[in-house]
Amino acid sequence: MEKIWLNEAFKGEVPNGFQGKVGWQSPSNIALVKYWGKHGKQLPQNPSISFTLSECCTETFIQYEKSEHLGFQFFFEGKENPAFGAKIEKFLLDNQAFFPFINQLNMKVESRNTFPHSSGIASSASSMSAFVMCLLDIEYWLARTERQRAGIFSVVPQKASYFSRLASGSACRSVYPKMALWGATEAYNGSSDEYAVPLENDIHPVFKTFRDSILIVSGEKKSVSSRAGHGLMEGNPYAPARYAQANENIKNLLTALKSGDLDTFINITESEALQLHALMMCSNPSFILMKPNTLHIIEEVRNFRNETQIPLCFTLDAGPNVHLLYPESEAKKVEKFIKSELVTYCNQGRWIADHVGDWPKLLV
Ligand code: PMV
Repeated sequence: MEKIWLNEAFKGEVPNGFQGKVGWQSPSNIALVKYWGKHGKQLPQNPSISFTLSECCTETFIQYEKSEHLGFQFFFEGKENPAFGAKIEKFLLDNQAFFPFINQLNMKVESRNTFPHSSGIASSASSMSAFVMCLLDIEYWLARTERQRAGIFSVVPQKASYFSRLASGSACRSVYPKMALWGATEAYNGSSDEYAVPLENDIHPVFKTFRDSILIVSGEKKSVSSRAGHGLMEGNPYAPARYAQANENIKNLLTALKSGDLDTFINITESEALQLHALMMCSNPSFILMKPNTLHIIEEVRNFRNETQIPLCFTLDAGPNVHLLYPESEAKKVEKFIKSELVTYCNQGRWIADHVGDWPKLLV
C-alpha cells in the first residue's frame, strides 16, 4: 500500500497563486473490541471494531497558499496551540515523501471540537482524521486542472484511513459511517492492518441507529496517554493471551453484528472494556483508570439490565467515563434511567447524548 501512495504522490511544482481554504468535519469513534498495543509503524497488535459517532466531532479548516517552504500554524478553538500543532507538524514531516507539496505551502490550521471542553473525551481520532481529510483535499485540488468538484468525492476513504492511522491509530476507523474494522483478520475479507474497512453493509439494522450516551465521570485529562498505554503492553505478561482473545472476540462479534445477536454483543463489549482496564492494572507501572463512580454506574447498568431485560450495556475508553450503548427503540426508557439514577454519578451531572453517525462531512 505504501508504494501505491508514494507513486501517486503529487510531486510537481505548486503553481504560482495556488491558494484556498478546505474544511472537514470528522467524527470520533468508540471501540467495542479495543486496539491496545501496537508495533512497527502504527500497526495494531490485534484487530478492533468501532461505532462511528455523530455528535462528538472535530471541525478543521486549512487556509493554504504557495510559499517557498513549509509554513505551519495551528489554532485550537480560536487560540494558537503550539503543542498540538507540533504533533501535526511532526506527522507532516514524517510523511513528506507522500506529500512533498507541503514544502511549498503556508498552512494555517483552525480546529474545534463539537463536544464540550474538558469532558475527558479523547479527540485524537476525530481531530487527526479531520486534518487528514483536509490535507488530501488540498492534494486533490493540486492534482486537478479544472477547479471544480464535479460531484466527485474528492478524498478516497481508504487513503484517508491509511494516513489517519499514521497520525493516530484509532483515527483510521473514523472515516467510515456506522461501524469500521481495523486490523487483518481471517474473519473478514479485505481487512488490513494498514487501514480500516467499512462494516456498514455487514451489520444488522439494529446497530445502524445504536445510541451512545456518554456519562462524564471526570473531565480531567487522562492520567496515561494512549501512546504510553500502548507502550506498556510490550512488557505486559498477559499480552499474548490478550491478543489471542481479541482475535476471538472479533470473530464472534462480526457474527453477532450480522445477525443482530444482542446478547453476544453485550457480552463481548463489556468484557473488552473490562479487559482494557485490567491490562492497565497489571502493567508495570500499573494504572487504575476507573473512578469509584465508574464502578457505581457499571453496577447500576447491570442491575437495570437484569431487572428490565433491556439490552443496555457499557463500554469504556482508557479513562473513567462510561459509554452506554443501546438500541434506539429503548432510548426513552434508558434516558429516563440515566436522568433518574445515573446523572448523580456524573461530573456536574454532565452526559452527552450521541448515536451512531455517518461519513466525515465537507464544510468548505
Ligand atoms: O488511537 P490511540 O493511539 O489514541 O489509541 C486508542 C486506544 C483506545 O481508545 C483505548 C481503544 C481504541 O481502539 O480506540
